[in-house]
Amino acid sequence: MIKKLLALSISLAFSSAPALVHAEGNISTGKTKAASCAGCHGEDGNSMGSTFPKLAGQHAGYLVKQLQAFKNGSRNAPMMAPLAMGLDDKSVEDIAAYYASQRISTNDLPILPFDDDDEDEDEIDTEKRAEEQKAELNNLIAIGSDLYRNGNLKTDVSACIACHGPYGEGNKPASFPTLKGQHADYLIKALTDFKNGARSNIPDNMMHMIAKKMTNKEIQAVSYHISMLK
Ligand code: HEC
Ligand code: HEC
Repeated sequence: MIKKLLALSISLAFSSAPALVHAEGNISTGKTKAASCAGCHGEDGNSMGSTFPKLAGQHAGYLVKQLQAFKNGSRNAPMMAPLAMGLDDKSVEDIAAYYASQRISTNDLPILPFDDDDEDEDEIDTEKRAEEQKAELNNLIAIGSDLYRNGNLKTDVSACIACHGPYGEGNKPASFPTLKGQHADYLIKALTDFKNGARSNIPDNMMHMIAKKMTNKEIQAVSYHISMLK
């Protein structure tokens, strides 16, 4: 299985390489042009808001591809589309080169969404709850780590490591995105969008094929794991 996937990702890397050859952008011009993006993505591409993806350290080829997809409407994102429309091809290359040259920041441990099961407020033992939350979080991150490395053989979910690398660093020549240090909330949204088909801007739709086999719990778990990768 892993062998098959590796072969797939390697053949993809080679087959898609010529199409991805593009002019190197100019980092310092890109920095100036990225000023209008800072409000949401942060000045250096490390966004504060957890639903705005971090762009720092992302592969330039992947960034270019996404910006073009926003422009031609093949990736649907109401907030990004009008902004991408305003960028010519040279600006796209320059901005991508700038963000790619930045370093992604690390995240704090995710905070589990509030569990409404404990209704009786007087009964809540905050210390006990904190312990339980910690145990649940560790458990989720362990599930996520296992899924990331081994996939789920029972449900035929591919191992993420085959394409996104052992450290979540992605695959630069193939423009497979780096994932490490990305906000967990954004990762959950991205995987949910792939799962339900809301995001499908790649012709062979491989992330949809993978995400549709994942449970919501697996999506949460693997996102928590990836958000902590450095
Ligand atoms: C008003 C907020 C906002 C501004 C300003 C903004 N973005 Fe975004 N951007 C978003 C959101 C939200 C997403 C995630 C879309 C989704 O969920 O699919 C995004 C996604 C992206 C992505 C895809 C990242 C990935 O990992 O796939 C790129 C690339 C991007 N933006 C580049 C830019 C650039 C370049 C600019 C400036 C020209 C910019 N953005 C300005 C909100 C913004
Ligand atoms: C066969 C290769 C392959 C495998 C295996 C794979 N991915 Fe991906 N993944 C991709 C490609 C290619 C993209 C870029 C899609 C695009 O251009 O929109 C991507 C995109 C993503 C994104 C969106 C990143 C962003 O910045 O928006 C996330 C999140 C993701 N993958 C998570 C995973 C997880 C979790 C797994 C394992 C369960 C996995 N991937 C397995 C190839 C793969």
